[in-house]
Amino acid sequence: MSQEPQPFQFGPDDLDADYRAGTPVWDANKPHTELIRVFEEYRLRPETVLEVGCGTGADAVWLARRRYEVTAVDSSAIAIERARLRAEQQDAVLRFVLEDAFVFAQSAGQFDFVYDAGLYHSAREKKLEKYLDMLWRVTRPGSYYLCLAAAPSEPIENGPPQVSDDEIRNELGRLFEFVHLRPIRLETSNPSQNHPAWSCFMRRPLVGV
Ligand SMILES: C[S@@+](CC[C@H](N)C(=O)[O-])C[C@H]1O[C@@H](n2cnc3c(N)ncnc32)[C@H](O)[C@@H]1O
Repeated sequence: MSQEPQPFQFGPDDLDADYRAGTPVWDANKPHTELIRVFEEYRLRPETVLEVGCGTGADAVWLARRRYEVTAVDSSAIAIERARLRAEQQDAVLRFVLEDAFVFAQSAGQFDFVYDAGLYHSAREKKLEKYLDMLWRVTRPGSYYLCLAAAPSEPIENGPPQVSDDEIRNELGRLFEFVHLRPIRLETSNPSQNHPAWSCFMRRPLVGV
């Protein structure tokens, strides 16, 4: 596996090419600090976890090593292959699924904690309804959802699509209640390209929104 960070080439749907070219800039190759912070801050102990758009699995493996029952799905074969290798190297037991997350969600069941670092901000542009349908299917009342998405507070050259706090409130707020929506910096494979992002932590209400 090449570890040379590549210039950011944000493809439309199929990110296989970006993985094939080496280490895409979004792949920090370590668990996101914000994921760890949220687990510590809220003392989360979910039994079941789903990560959508798991990439090469650093976050999913971190979660699995904490003994949660983790399922992680990505549509890139190369990303999943690298994720499986990472899990093997770290003795982590979890389920990686190579599939479109929107299709997987049709039969995946519900999870206590759903996590997304970097899928929502691009999927929302053309597939918002599909994305929301997926979230609804994979959660139950009381489930938590953490989403890390690029924020527009500064320009990101050739970076991921950015989403405003109002857009998040209008879109994800249709389904869930906010626990917090706070600015962070999203780590990438090149610290000089770490970019402004949102940490959007939500809970599905026990009764309808
Ligand atoms: C910006 S990358 C983030 C990857 C990983 N979460 C990380 O932080 O390194 C977005 C990921 O979503 C995956 N993806 C895009 N569309 C998808 C879909 N419909 N179903 C599953 N995965 C998808 C891509 O293959 C890619 O790995």
